[in-house]
Amino acid sequence: MARQFFVGGNFKLNGSKASIKEIVERLNSASLSKNTEVVICPPAVYLDYATSLVTAPTVSVGAQNSYNKASGAYTGENSVEMIKDVNAKWVILGHSERRTYFHEDDKIVADKTKFALDSGLGVILCIGETLEEKKAGITLDVVKRQLDAVIAEVKDWTNVVIAYEPIWAIGTGLAATPEDAQEIHASIREYLVAKLGAQVAASTRILYGGSANGSNAVTFKGKADVDGFLVGGASLKPEFVDIINSRD
Ligand code: G3H
Repeated sequence: MARQFFVGGNFKLNGSKASIKEIVERLNSASLSKNTEVVICPPAVYLDYATSLVTAPTVSVGAQNSYNKASGAYTGENSVEMIKDVNAKWVILGHSERRTYFHEDDKIVADKTKFALDSGLGVILCIGETLEEKKAGITLDVVKRQLDAVIAEVKDWTNVVIAYEPIWAIGTGLAATPEDAQEIHASIREYLVAKLGAQVAASTRILYGGSANGSNAVTFKGKADVDGFLVGGASLKPEFVDIINSRD
């Protein structure tokens, strides 16, 4: 079965009611590819607002993080139930900014992933290496280690989308080349075959993230293992529509 093209927009810590309204209204009125699943991820404060505005049938809303406890004395956290309560369907987990600035290790990412999936959210699971790790030639060791932690906890990968995001490409304007991304994505898929079987590997979408934009997205067309993008900066701009439509 063909994998549906998937484009996520990670707004990170950006936006206001006014700018989120503008972005969602642009998506609602644009001519969006019917073949692309789109998930926009505003800051948690605006999740409810964003879901109330979306009318485009291919667009849903996701959170940028969730906790691995349902409720309780966990000041500052957002629960999966709360995310679902405001009609968001997805959550980004394991983003390198969470791993780096908030010290989330492989184990906590895996625990959060399991918890979110068990509660019915889809998970955009981010993996990727630093520039030093790339230079040391250990990219695959790093992404396999990150995947292993999740594989140990999660048996059903139906609602997982993997985002390969080399950290050196995030926000730098230096995207991986389509050829390099394809090579890593193919290796990730091979690893999924070995660990989870051919069927799971064939149906799991693997996105590329890191300085994807309205101009370079189309250059990834034809790369068999690049099933979409997780977009940061460009998801806030009109060019996000071009990324969504880049596979048509
Ligand atoms: O989650 C998105 C990635 O961090 C990519 O961000 O498109 O601004 O490089 P970027």
